[in-house]
Amino acid sequence: MTKDVTNSSQRSIALIGFRGSGKTSVGTVLAKLIGGTFVDSDELIAHKAGKSIADIFSDDGEAAFRRIERGVIADICADAPAVISVGGGAILDADNVADLAGVATIVWLSAGADVLHDRIAADPASSRHRPALTDRPPHEEVIRLLAERTPCYEQAADLTIDVSRGDPALLARAIAVQTGHIDA
Ligand code: S3P
Repeated sequence: MTKDVTNSSQRSIALIGFRGSGKTSVGTVLAKLIGGTFVDSDELIAHKAGKSIADIFSDDGEAAFRRIERGVIADICADAPAVISVGGGAILDADNVADLAGVATIVWLSAGADVLHDRIAADPASSRHRPALTDRPPHEEVIRLLAERTPCYEQAADLTIDVSRGDPALLARAIAVQTGHIDA
């Protein structure tokens, strides 16, 4: 169910969704469109840790990554920029969702597992930024984690945007209109 977001033009916009859903590309265009700053939690996590996300996972483990992610999202929300993008698993922590909901309209960039898998596979930066999250082959991993996480995305989202079609500019425009930041 989509919640009422018609009066949300004063709020930040938080983009959630699985890897490959286009949070960074849509978020960058969206921030320009509504005239605000764009912040990506993964970028701040890598900066804070002084190493790539893949290195955090391999050196310190996923639990350590999630702890840093939690602190970074709390910091971002304390001084909320116009557009916030968070990693695909951030919604697994209810405190992250509560912080985001306090300052932002939460928008789920949604697509099916096949589309997401193909986009991840086609992205040359994937291996640097996207450590394996399970011991399953990549396609199976997407199917399994997407199924597990979909209830969390649904519950967190004020608005759901189907990103299986449409380029980042078109999608950013749809979000800006539907959150009341620009006129249709
Ligand atoms: C993760 C997604 C990644 C990053 C980390 C964990 C996940 O972010 O936060 O590798 O659990 O799905 P993107 O969704 O931006 O790729």
